[in-house]
Amino acid sequence: MSRLDSFIRRMKAQRACLDWAAQAIADLPGPVFELGLGNGRTYDHLREILPGRDIYVFEQVIKAHPNCIPPDDRLFLGDAVEQLPIARDRLGEGAALVHTDLGTGDDAANRRLAARLAAPLAGALRPGGIVLANIEIPVDRWTRLPEPEGVQKDRYFIYRDDG
Ligand SMILES: C[S@@+](CC[C@H](N)C(=O)[O-])C[C@H]1O[C@@H](n2cnc3c(N)ncnc32)[C@H](O)[C@@H]1O
Repeated sequence: MSRLDSFIRRMKAQRACLDWAAQAIADLPGPVFELGLGNGRTYDHLREILPGRDIYVFEQVIKAHPNCIPPDDRLFLGDAVEQLPIARDRLGEGAALVHTDLGTGDDAANRRLAARLAAPLAGALRPGGIVLANIEIPVDRWTRLPEPEGVQKDRYFIYRDDG
């Protein structure tokens, strides 16, 4: 498969997972957290498929398309690992959905990131909340859910907090 085909497949999988998650949290109140604004593609998609939902973004360095930069009061600037507990305290409620797109092609770095993220993420999620992650993040009280139809296994990791 060419790298172009692989990229397209990854983007389609990401969109399918985001669309699935929007349905999955339809009856669950609470904000949405987007970890890793990047150029703002998935943030923009979340805004479109979840109108009326409060979406908070976590990013170290803003470099997004100007139309896809969240307002200051929806932005937690810095390391998401440090900002998640701050957000949880400030907002006073857990997230219904967290989409984390922080992983890279470096497996060892992803494992280190997952180890750092697991506890702050678990603390930021409300019971029944959903995590969509581009890396595996094992947390005892989370149940891993199957990928939506058409999404290759292990392309994305979907968890629900059953604690
Ligand atoms: C792959 S990009 C996200 C792409 C984005 N989902 C999109 O659709 O455009 C990952 C982003 O995560 C940010 N990032 C990486 N590690 C981070 C961390 N520990 N805390 C906050 N942001 C981080 C990087 O600066 C980068 O912009």
